Amino acid sequence: MRIRLDKYLADMRIGTRSEVKKSIQKGMVSVDGEVVKKPEYKIDTAQTNVFFQGEPVGYETEEYYVLNKPAGVVSATSDPKDTTVLDLIESKKRKDLFPVGRLDKDTEGLLLITNDGELCHRLLSPKRHVDKIYYAKVEGRVTDTDVALFAEGIEIGEKEITKPGKLVVRKSDDISEIELTICEGKFHQVKRMFEAVDKKVIYLKRLQMGTLRLDDQLQTGAYRKLTEEEIRRLKEC
Ligand code: URA
Repeated sequence: MRIRLDKYLADMRIGTRSEVKKSIQKGMVSVDGEVVKKPEYKIDTAQTNVFFQGEPVGYETEEYYVLNKPAGVVSATSDPKDTTVLDLIESKKRKDLFPVGRLDKDTEGLLLITNDGELCHRLLSPKRHVDKIYYAKVEGRVTDTDVALFAEGIEIGEKEITKPGKLVVRKSDDISEIELTICEGKFHQVKRMFEAVDKKVIYLKRLQMGTLRLDDQLQTGAYRKLTEEEIRRLKEC
């Protein structure tokens, strides 16, 4: 792909378009070893080496991160008062990243962040039924009856009942612990499914989306880039 030098630098968040124009004109940018002072100079993003103040920039067309979302952070690209999941991705280069789907502010766990719109569409399309696995602590004793009800689909006040959910009870007690696999992403779906059987989710964490699993090493609030293999497998979901 061939793009203007000022766009190349702005895309990689070196500065705004007008800031990088000024930097280029001041001679702060070199291309393949030569200082270039023309913002309109055309760059081949795959081949050319661009340096800003002597540091290599490197162009990324697509970025893929997995974040272990902490509670208290919103799944949005910007917010007037709350910290967003994008604020946590400090090493991001692109400015067009977004979270693939939403987790509630108080939900933790796996969130994919990318600028790959096609992958986002594949993963969220209601037609594709991509599995999402959640771990939850639930107030009340989760029983085999709940397991059977979830397997049939739950009435949560939508036009249709939910698709079947696979409910695995890890601990059945006053506070139960469960894992739930669902293939939809309706608003507050997990919380509403439990409300429908008179129980309350008091802690919720997403463990998996499609083939992408949250690894134990990724602390709450931490993120990492996806491997090529993880990206390839997600694209096959
Ligand atoms: N279901 C919920 O209720 N909340 C989430 O954040 C995700 C799924």
